[in-house]
Amino acid sequence: MTIRILGISGSLRRGSHNSELLRAVARSLPPGVELQIYDGLAELPHYNEDLDIEPIPAPAVALRRSVAQADGLLIATPEYNGSVPGVLKNAIDWASRPFPDNALRGKPTAVIGASTSLFGAVWAQAQLRKALQIAGADVLDGEVPVGQAHTAFTRHGSLGDPEIQAALEDLVGMLLARAGMSPTPLAVAEGAA
Ligand code: FNR
Repeated sequence: MTIRILGISGSLRRGSHNSELLRAVARSLPPGVELQIYDGLAELPHYNEDLDIEPIPAPAVALRRSVAQADGLLIATPEYNGSVPGVLKNAIDWASRPFPDNALRGKPTAVIGASTSLFGAVWAQAQLRKALQIAGADVLDGEVPVGQAHTAFTRHGSLGDPEIQAALEDLVGMLLARAGMSPTPLAVAEGAA
């Protein structure tokens, strides 16, 4: 069985360190795990309840489908002014509806983050976990702050600090365990029969 993780980088920047962080994770995943990187963030309209009626904008439908089809989510957030970038919060708002039967509900989710300050987007990570919890996701407690992100990666794209690398591997390991253990509705139905 393949475990499918959807990776979302909260940055639209071409040279994003958060996208780089997701690529570093992709390279270190065990066999049987696929990390698909979501690339629709720039196309999502601003969330507007007037737009959230049929026909729902195609980029929002695609986001909800990608989240629904994933076994787990790994979200890498930058920090803008001590908070989650608006484009990423916008995606969480789209994915959180319709409430309560949204694609995020019960979805195993881990949050990591990179920023160029010393603190590694810890505030943004905490706020993002809170928003995801309110939306109903099954959010892991841990965080991975990659500070001074402009110097944090080797030229091969892996993390230079073994402690941060170990923290990342721990959190991703927990996410995979949580994602692999989630029974599908079909398995639940078969188990109950
Ligand atoms: C930042 N940055 C930043 N960093 C931080 O640690 N705390 C902060 O509050 C902010 N605030 C902030 C606001 C705005 C508008 C910008 C453009 C940047 C710096 C930020 O961490 C840095 O640009 C990262 O490299 C952004 O992530 P990506 O694009 O590399 O993934």
